[in-house]
Amino acid sequence: MELDTYLERAGDRIDRLLDRYFGQPVGELNRAAAHLLLAGGKRLRPALMLLAADAVKRDTSDDLLPAALALELTHTFTLIHDDIMDRDTFRRGAPTVNNKWDEPTAILAGDVLNARAFSFLAGAIAPEAARLRAVGMLAMTCDELCLGQHLDMTFASRDDVTEDEYLEMVEKKTGALYAASAAIGAVLAGGNEPQIMVLHRFGLACGVAFQIQDDLIDLLALPGKTGKDRGSDIREGKATLLTILARDRGLDLFRFRHALSDAEIDEVIRLLEEHGVIDEAQRRARKIVGDASAHLQVLPDTEERRLLLALGEHFVSREA
Ligand code: IPE
Ligand code: IPE
Ligand code: MG
Ligand code: MG
Ligand code: MG
Repeated sequence: MELDTYLERAGDRIDRLLDRYFGQPVGELNRAAAHLLLAGGKRLRPALMLLAADAVKRDTSDDLLPAALALELTHTFTLIHDDIMDRDTFRRGAPTVNNKWDEPTAILAGDVLNARAFSFLAGAIAPEAARLRAVGMLAMTCDELCLGQHLDMTFASRDDVTEDEYLEMVEKKTGALYAASAAIGAVLAGGNEPQIMVLHRFGLACGVAFQIQDDLIDLLALPGKTGKDRGSDIREGKATLLTILARDRGLDLFRFRHALSDAEIDEVIRLLEEHGVIDEAQRRARKIVGDASAHLQVLPDTEERRLLLALGEHFVSREA
């Protein structure tokens, strides 16, 4: 099977569950909580979870759909809160919750999804010990995510963030949830410890590379394609791999720290290209995925392993 087909099928399975559980929201807060969930999204964390489960034990993923839904709920919860922090107005091709409603509603809508995520995971079809472990893993992941998002915010007021600090931040804010997705899939499918560990490491590294690609997309891709605000990171003065590599090459992007016109975004891209920053960031992301892929050799040589490798590649070649 091609990766595209796998992703499409996984996305459809998640969308059907979302429709069942969130399709008829009752009351304003539930409508706000369902808004971004139903607006779309690539559903990559559930896809990674299902793939990891199938890589460990073929054909387990049907039983694990509600658990995969839990990961999409956690992710969407973090997006709703992230849009408050990043002052964004547009996501998944729709107004953000803080834009369509207001900040208090967005805080609560995120909290609702966070709670529902645990509820779905706790009800997963798996042995009790595995379920309990998965719930603990998701709780730890949310903790990490908050630390990562806090670093992301505090780095915006600094101009000396190092590459290592950036990597620590993205491991927490983005890598942790991908790591948990892969590892929870393995745990619920009854994987052994080496399999769980290897999938966790693979998810973590791929998540870091995913965020580097997201930093590139923030600048390079048009909102019509991403469904998100463009140039948000530069506007907010975020420390991204791009701004760090730029600074190390003597390029100061501070003067672009305001709402940017398309012409100004083009100017930033031109400067970054001129200094080789875009190519370098892409090289780093690809290297991280390449190194991570080597770990997967300990898994049996199956179609699912091949798809996991293809998913890693997709994370750094995607354009939206
Ligand atoms: C966006 O994640 C947040 C990041 C970690 C960069 P996605 O790019 O997976 O967003 P959706 O789920 O497809 O909307
Ligand atoms: C967000 O990173 C990561 C999260 C944990 C939500 P970004 O702030 O770059 O995500 P986008 O670009 O808004 O989707
Ligand atoms: Mg954001
Ligand atoms: Mg953010
Ligand atoms: Mg981004």
